[in-house]
Amino acid sequence: MSFILLLLLYVTRFDKSMCSNHTTRCNEKDRETLLTFRHGINDSFGRISTWSTEKDCCVWEGVHCDNITGRVTKIDLKPNFEDEPIRYLKGEMNLCILELEFLSHLDLSLNDFDVIRITSIQHNFTHSSKLVYLDLSNSLITSMDNLDWLSPLSSLKYLNLSFIDLHKETNWIQAVSTLPSLLELQLSNCNLNNFIIGTSFKYVNLSSIVTLDLSYNYFTSHLLDGFFNLTKDINFLSLSGNNINGEIPSSLLKLQNLQYLLLAKTQLKGSIPDGIGQLINIKGLDLSGNMLSGFIPSTLGNLSSLNDLSIGSNNFSGEISNLHFAKLSNLDSLDLSNSNFVFQFALDWVPPFQLSLLSLKNTTQGPHFPSWIYTQKSLQDLDLSNSGISLLDKNKFKDLIERITGQLILSNNSIVEDISNLTLNCFDLRLDHNNFTGGLPNISPMANFVDLSFNSFSGTIPHSWKNLKILYHISLWSNRLFGEVSLHFSDLNQLEIMNLGENEFSGTIPILISQKLEVVILRANQFEGTIPPQIFNLSNLFHLDLANNKLSGSLPHCVYNLTQMDTDRVYAWRPATIDLFTKGQDYVYDVNPERRTIDISNNSLSGEVPLEMFRLVQVQTLNLSHNNLIGTIPKEIGGMKNMESLDLSSNKFYGEIPQSISLLTFLGYLNLSYNNFDGIIPIGTQLQSFNASSYIENPKLCGAPLSNCTTKEKNSKTATPSTKNEDDDSIREWLYLGMGVGFAVGFWGICGSLFLIRKWRHAYFRFIDRVGDKLYVTLNVKLNSFLRN
Ligand SMILES: *[C@@H]1O[C@H](CO)[C@@H](O)[C@H](O)[C@H]1NC(C)=O
Ligand SMILES: *[C@@H]1O[C@H](CO)[C@@H](O)[C@H](O)[C@H]1NC(C)=O
Ligand SMILES: *[C@@H]1O[C@H](CO)[C@@H](O)[C@H](O)[C@H]1NC(C)=O
Ligand SMILES: *[C@@H]1O[C@H](CO)[C@@H](O)[C@H](O)[C@H]1NC(C)=O
Ligand SMILES: *[C@@H]1O[C@H](CO)[C@@H](O)[C@H](O)[C@H]1NC(C)=O
Ligand SMILES: *[C@@H]1O[C@H](CO)[C@@H](O)[C@H](O)[C@H]1NC(C)=O
Ligand SMILES: *[C@@H]1O[C@H](CO)[C@@H](O)[C@H](O)[C@H]1NC(C)=O
Ligand SMILES: *[C@@H]1O[C@H](CO)[C@@H](O)[C@H](O)[C@H]1NC(C)=O
Ligand SMILES: *[C@@H]1O[C@H](CO)[C@@H](O)[C@H](O)[C@H]1NC(C)=O
Ligand SMILES: *[C@@H]1O[C@H](CO)[C@@H](O)[C@H](O)[C@H]1NC(C)=O
Ligand SMILES: *[C@@H]1O[C@H](CO)[C@@H](O)[C@H](O)[C@H]1NC(C)=O
Ligand SMILES: *[C@@H]1O[C@H](CO)[C@@H](O)[C@H](O)[C@H]1NC(C)=O
Repeated sequence: MSFILLLLLYVTRFDKSMCSNHTTRCNEKDRETLLTFRHGINDSFGRISTWSTEKDCCVWEGVHCDNITGRVTKIDLKPNFEDEPIRYLKGEMNLCILELEFLSHLDLSLNDFDVIRITSIQHNFTHSSKLVYLDLSNSLITSMDNLDWLSPLSSLKYLNLSFIDLHKETNWIQAVSTLPSLLELQLSNCNLNNFIIGTSFKYVNLSSIVTLDLSYNYFTSHLLDGFFNLTKDINFLSLSGNNINGEIPSSLLKLQNLQYLLLAKTQLKGSIPDGIGQLINIKGLDLSGNMLSGFIPSTLGNLSSLNDLSIGSNNFSGEISNLHFAKLSNLDSLDLSNSNFVFQFALDWVPPFQLSLLSLKNTTQGPHFPSWIYTQKSLQDLDLSNSGISLLDKNKFKDLIERITGQLILSNNSIVEDISNLTLNCFDLRLDHNNFTGGLPNISPMANFVDLSFNSFSGTIPHSWKNLKILYHISLWSNRLFGEVSLHFSDLNQLEIMNLGENEFSGTIPILISQKLEVVILRANQFEGTIPPQIFNLSNLFHLDLANNKLSGSLPHCVYNLTQMDTDRVYAWRPATIDLFTKGQDYVYDVNPERRTIDISNNSLSGEVPLEMFRLVQVQTLNLSHNNLIGTIPKEIGGMKNMESLDLSSNKFYGEIPQSISLLTFLGYLNLSYNNFDGIIPIGTQLQSFNASSYIENPKLCGAPLSNCTTKEKNSKTATPSTKNEDDDSIREWLYLGMGVGFAVGFWGICGSLFLIRKWRHAYFRFIDRVGDKLYVTLNVKLNSFLRN
């Protein structure tokens, strides 16, 4: 009886625990380990706040437990990129977390951890590791001294340490080849250039590996035949971005299960061997960016599994014709860019494939638009820039470009076409350097990059453009556009680059609300009214060009919050501008948008220049010329240590030129002419080296390179010793400030590898995504989905 009672009691208790909210209670030991791991983390975004508020560690963010044993089996703390802001974890990554006895999956990738703690983990292992999947890739950890800690992880199948600098670990090959179960090894961008082949070992036994990614380590090594001792099981191999410097090794062509062979940018020479036809399972082949030469073997055309083929940027010669593609019915992306092939595609050729991506950039296609491209009904991305095209079939062309939803790049051709009636659905549109005429096309709200510069577009900006909410780059430079723009651009809060220069736009300057703006070019238009003060609150702005307009009124006296221009905070990564400045030669004036510039010349601005303007110590070009500005130059100008070009000419400035101006040691251009400056031109490193024309038409100014001063003028100068002293002190102050800035710039310039420039990292990926090699990205996306299967 009492036994039954006991049993009953037991059952009810058991029941109760089963029905309570927490059917899984976390194991106390696991909890301890997690808390030790938690201890080093700076969770300033509150990503893992549940780790403090919840008792049961199995409900903690990112923690998964076995629902029967309650032991922690999986931790996934990869940031969620949907979050705004993205909640990165920072601080220390403590690998004590590997001591969790039942952990099989650990993903800490893509966080901002900057320190790694590896405390003699081996000794604390009392069990055999169950860890199968480990991804620590792409954090801010600058360096990992060794990989000894890997050795207990005997169950590991997937290892991803990409973007962790491992150059100190010269034995990485041994460390990974002792992992008995390893199937997949990702060591991309690890700076693995510090190992020597041939002395301590000749071959690496990676025979269990199925996926090997050693791309972008910039190591130099001939691929000795069989060096990696890869077995037939391997199906993914990427050695892109290393210096292999030889011919394509024939041993590679025997790896018949290879599905992906990525050898881009590896300095390969010689020709593609006929044996390439042996890779019958190949889906992705990337040989781009090498020095391969000769003809394309016809056997390439037998690789009927091929989805992605990239052989651009080599030195191939000879013809390339439909015959090369006769059996490639699965081809999905094709890159033949930067090639000298003679293209011999029959005019009525209907390819056996339907591409989604095609790049024929910088090849000789023209003058006719290649007609076979019109047959490609699922094309998402098309790059035909710089390919000599001027003639096209209007209707087929319009159908084609309206269908494209990815990148549409037709820059640098001679296309004369009116596309005003079209609605373009691509997100990246580059039609610059053609002769498109008529009105601007409608553009879908998905667009984020639009470059229509150097064309003959005319008319006003279409109403539909108001919906371009995610636009971050717009360039309409050098067209014949007119009308007001204030309504069109005021809502675009993602805008980073805005270039409307060299048109006939009128009305007031739009109030720009995007705090992301970095470049604003409204040069050479008919804008009038005053400069809105908001412009000086754009903390990311580093290039402001409002020159050659009809602006009036005085410069706003407000807080100048142009952080990019006034602090020595190191430059942000500014990928979006790359496109702008590579076209530098087209810029009619000598200013490069990459330079920190304020140019408001040739307007009708009046009043004094606010002191804040002279506190923007990072500015390299300051042009206030040809206005009606008044006032004196403050001594603060001496702090603008990066100044290379200063033009204050043709205004009504007066007073003495401050001695501190001689501190501007980078000054290569100076123009103070046509003002009312007086006194002696300060003596300074460069100040006398400028031509007299830099100073002329200031009736009361004297001293070299102008004429000698009279004694009267000299006396008036030395009569104020007290202000001179004050000047000296502040000069010193500015000098030190300047040195700090110079140091920071120099330091970052020299050591600026991707590993050090931490802040740039995420931006870098965004950059790759946006303007990077589209095919590379596509391959990667494919690769990743392939790997996850
Ligand atoms: C179960 O947990 C949820 C939130 O975690 C709470 O709102 C609820 O009251 C709990 N229920 C019981 C029965 O404890
Ligand atoms: C955590 O990170 C924030 C932002 O980077 C920083 O301000 C704070 O000082 C850090 N806290 C600790 C404890 O390191
Ligand atoms: C335990 O987890 C498995 C999958 O992880 C799930 O299918 C099962 O329903 C869970 N059992 C309970 C009792 O929650
Ligand atoms: C590992 O073990 C050592 C002693 O062998 C101990 O001092 C250390 O605290 C342990 N580390 C962790 C993270 O538990
Ligand atoms: C490995 O890490 C890199 C960088 O974070 C990432 O791009 C890649 O997708 C990862 N590989 C796998 C298979 O998850
Ligand atoms: C290579 O490693 C595999 C297991 O991963 C092992 O079976 C084989 O014997 C090794 N070969 C050599 C030559 O060491
Ligand atoms: C490659 O590995 C196999 C076994 O996995 C072994 O038999 C062979 O000797 C190895 N080759 C070299 C060159 O080490
Ligand atoms: C265009 O391609 C040729 C090879 O055909 C190459 O030499 C040249 O550098 C390429 N031009 C550009 C701008 O990439
Ligand atoms: C645009 O459409 C209008 C009305 O359908 C038509 O009159 C005009 O000719 C078209 N313009 C072009 C360039 O096709
Ligand atoms: C562009 O087209 C217009 C009108 O069709 C023509 O006047 C102009 O000369 C062309 N410009 C160039 C650079 O071909
Ligand atoms: C200056 O810009 C920073 C960063 O955008 C912002 O946090 C700050 O509030 C701004 N200051 C003023 C006075 O507007
Ligand atoms: C200016 O003065 C210097 C000596 O101070 C003299 O050598 C020079 O000839 C003078 N130049 C003129 C143009 O008077």
